[in-house]
Amino acid sequence: MTTATTPAAYAESLFGLEGRLAAVTGASRGIGLAIADCLAAAGADIIAVGSGRPGGDDEVREAVEARGRKLIAVTADLADREQVAALAADLAARDVDILVNNAGTIRRAPATMHSDEEFDHVVDVNLRSTFVLSREVGRTMVERGSGKIVNTASVLSFQGGVTVPGYTSSKSAVTGLTKALANEWADKGVNVNAVAPGYVATANTHDLRADPERSRAILDRIPAGRWAEAADIAGAVLFLCSRAADYVHGAVLPVDGGWLAR
Ligand SMILES: NC(=O)c1ccc[n+]([C@@H]2O[C@H](COP(=O)([O-])OP(=O)(O)OC[C@H]3O[C@@H](n4cnc5c(N)ncnc54)[C@H](OP(=O)(O)O)[C@@H]3O)[C@@H](O)[C@H]2O)c1
Repeated sequence: MTTATTPAAYAESLFGLEGRLAAVTGASRGIGLAIADCLAAAGADIIAVGSGRPGGDDEVREAVEARGRKLIAVTADLADREQVAALAADLAARDVDILVNNAGTIRRAPATMHSDEEFDHVVDVNLRSTFVLSREVGRTMVERGSGKIVNTASVLSFQGGVTVPGYTSSKSAVTGLTKALANEWADKGVNVNAVAPGYVATANTHDLRADPERSRAILDRIPAGRWAEAADIAGAVLFLCSRAADYVHGAVLPVDGGWLAR
């Protein structure tokens, strides 16, 4: 029970992140940028994990600092095992309160032409890095007795998708990993959950939106009648990072305009 006496104080008691340190992978653009901005607006300082692309932290730095919060930029290619291990050690040493495993990549090719390299790359970035970062940062959260981890699934965690077998495999596994970690850490004060975005207008879906037929077919199936903006996903992540979600463990929250309900 909160003792807050005004609506603003009540909202702050449930959703405020003042004093928290949140690490967000893939924070340079798209959904990750919106998440970093949203968590900063709620009061968190942000560690933005970028791939090392020149200028990759410019937009997120501007957004977070405009919220009056601190931005720490770190880089790692999440497809590179050594770099992921070094990043995990770095984050584990920083007493991170919140970890958002958002970075992701996709390769589009029919299964008969989907190469080992494409499959492995997508699985390494989307799934393997999520596990390694969660394991290392999660250990510090377990020791401290508190923490929130939010993984990024997809509606393709529940469906086969079209010509993206590596991506669908990785995102289906992210939901299994989320539940496995939640089972282990729920009684240790650590919440592990996932969001499952629907179709969001970002670089990830550029090719779909550039194809008039696919784009129309997707839009026609979305009950909300529009593609998502990155900011649509960020509010759900804030919820899962907040005190309001203290009793939410192992959930995979679709944020899809009703796509899966259809
Ligand atoms: N867009 C959608 O419709 C949709 C739907 C469901 C789920 N998702 C998931 O949501 C997450 C964010 O997607 P988005 O749409 O915002 O995609 P996006 O605009 O393509 O952004 C991807 C982010 O991941 C980072 N990244 C990619 N490969 C990386 C690597 N090897 N090492 C380090 N960072 C890497 C990128 O960094 P750089 O900027 O430095 O390249 C970028 O910040 C992903 O997990 C994606 O699978 C997206």
